[in-house]
Amino acid sequence: MKGVLLSGGTGSRLRPITHTGPKQLVPVANKPVLEYAIEDLKEANITEIGVVLGNKGREEIQELLGDGSEYGVDITYIVQGNPLGLAHAAGCARDFVNGDDFVMYLGDNILNEGISDLVESFEAGKYGAGIALQAVDYPGQFGVVDIDDDQNVTGLVEKPDDPPTDLALIGMYVFSPAIFDAIERLEPSWRGELEITDAIHLLLDDGYEIDSHVVTGWWKDTGKPEDILEANRLVLEETTLERRGTVEDGAETKGRIELAESAVIEDGAVVRGPVSIADDTVVKSGTYVGPYTSLGPNSTLDGIHIENSVVIGDSTLTASGRIVDSLLGRCTNVESADDHLPEGRRLVVGENSQLKL
Ligand code: G1P
Repeated sequence: MKGVLLSGGTGSRLRPITHTGPKQLVPVANKPVLEYAIEDLKEANITEIGVVLGNKGREEIQELLGDGSEYGVDITYIVQGNPLGLAHAAGCARDFVNGDDFVMYLGDNILNEGISDLVESFEAGKYGAGIALQAVDYPGQFGVVDIDDDQNVTGLVEKPDDPPTDLALIGMYVFSPAIFDAIERLEPSWRGELEITDAIHLLLDDGYEIDSHVVTGWWKDTGKPEDILEANRLVLEETTLERRGTVEDGAETKGRIELAESAVIEDGAVVRGPVSIADDTVVKSGTYVGPYTSLGPNSTLDGIHIENSVVIGDSTLTASGRIVDSLLGRCTNVESADDHLPEGRRLVVGENSQLKL
């Protein structure tokens, strides 16, 4: 069994964060989303992994993952180039897969129970494909399956106007090599993409059985800022957080806090977990860091009140105001206005930023 990790796409819904890097490298609890996928594949004993790269952020992804040895896996890079759909991305991995079964994992998805059960369930039978499903509130935004009373998959449709069930395809699949012939027969969908959902439907038409596996733990497609905040909350909620850095006397800390070795919570600061603070970040006196916040590396917080937020890193937050439910890109400065200037907010924000004042 091999792994194919899709890391292309434009990340349009995460702009401006993705103007400067790929969406798969946005950190959740101070770890890039893509690393969670590598860990899940490894846990399912899949160590030969093909990483499919789009046009965006190829160098950054290769720099992070390298040859995979740091993660105990063996990584081969495959260039998809233009994003022509998930099935096109899978098709690019044909030579790498070389006749084996493989897991296809969407690199911007994150789920808490891993993929071992999905893989085991596929391997226990004789299937053309195995799909992971979850009941969702808005199935029309996803690929959706139809099933009969015995839970057999009888149909699949991509983003239907009238969903047959509320069971969405989450971004994890297991395929037999038969998928490649199905991909070759695909026509672009209404959104101009080769849909993996349609390829699986072709397998069904060809008489293959499709194994379905309903995922009960949480799953997040981290496509939008609010999804990153939610994933950050869920991961902080359940991971073991270790305090290795410095908590000065007089600092008030409560709850679970991950404090990297060179991070400091100074005398007079208040930190309420669950919180993650990365290397070389200093929380100064008069600062409040509230639950479900991840502070990236090399940042200074001085006097600000922040909670339920992700600060990616290399930032300086010295304003005396309150920041909530926010995603701050790398090298963000938030400071108090100079008292001598007239009242009002002074902003320097990039294209596609979202501000709520
Ligand atoms: C893709 C798939 C869709 C699936 C979803 C999961 O959608 O096409 O079937 O439900 O991933 O995240 P997209 O993110 O391309 O809109």
